[in-house]
Amino acid sequence: MSASSSPNETRKAPGADSTAKTADATALYSVRNLHKEYQMPGVKVPVLRGCDLEVRHGEILAIIGMSGVGKTTLLNIMGLLDNPTSGELIYNSGADDSLRNCDLANLQLNRKCSIRNQHFGFVFQFYHLLPDLTVLENVLLPSMIALSSGEYGSQRSKLQERARELLDRVGVLDRGDFPPSRLSGGERQRVAIARALMNDPELVFCDEPTGNLDTSTGERIHELILELNRELGTGFILVTHDQGLASLAGRILTMRDGRFEDR
Ligand SMILES: Nc1ncnc2c1ncn2[C@@H]1O[C@H](COP(=O)(O)OP(=O)(O)O)[C@@H](O)[C@H]1O
Ligand SMILES: [Mg+2]
Repeated sequence: MSASSSPNETRKAPGADSTAKTADATALYSVRNLHKEYQMPGVKVPVLRGCDLEVRHGEILAIIGMSGVGKTTLLNIMGLLDNPTSGELIYNSGADDSLRNCDLANLQLNRKCSIRNQHFGFVFQFYHLLPDLTVLENVLLPSMIALSSGEYGSQRSKLQERARELLDRVGVLDRGDFPPSRLSGGERQRVAIARALMNDPELVFCDEPTGNLDTSTGERIHELILELNRELGTGFILVTHDQGLASLAGRILTMRDGRFEDR
């Protein structure tokens, strides 16, 4: 059974298809029977226990659940930052024909790295900006990773222009030459969102993106994510404790005991 047809799904995106079969065919990302156990000294700790999930193209999906239930573990595996113990990660890119119905879990490490860099973006609770780079350089980083130094050099001015456009879009263009340490928390998260968008990803994983921000700053980050989703069509998965942020999503799913409820 797919998460999209779960009885715990509290709200559907407007116009979302109600049949699981059609949703299967059009899903951007289908996680199937995912298991993850961490190996600790002398003991295996099961965290994900047969987790199923479907993410549609261009949707905002919120994932909520108690601390320790496996939300970050799931995002890290879906974002190819960690490996599952077992299960399928079926990806259907709308932009790349070589990524149709493709199980990402089976790919070689270098292919995973390039998919992570080109199809996914990441926003973390504590921003993870590099302190020794300027704001503009932080935003450029995903393009530096994607390209050879020769390619980067020849496209440098175009890429800088894109990075500036993104900084402008998230409202911190005037901070481009600053080090991240001179920015407020909300401004740092805006930079992190611009960085996540640099390579025009299909899906951005946001792990507690407002968890370190005060309420009104967090609300402005919510509005920004909503606006980017609407204007760019980028999909977002939001892990959050914040009911306000969750309520902006097209769907809200609750994790419990390493899977989505009622399955
Ligand atoms: N690298 C790790 N090694 C061992 N246990 C881990 C590791 N990462 C997370 N865990 C454990 O897995 C469980 C789920 O963690 P996490 O996915 O971070 O939960 P959540 O994000 O829902 O709070 C927790 O009990 C946590 O302690
Ligand atoms: Mg977490």
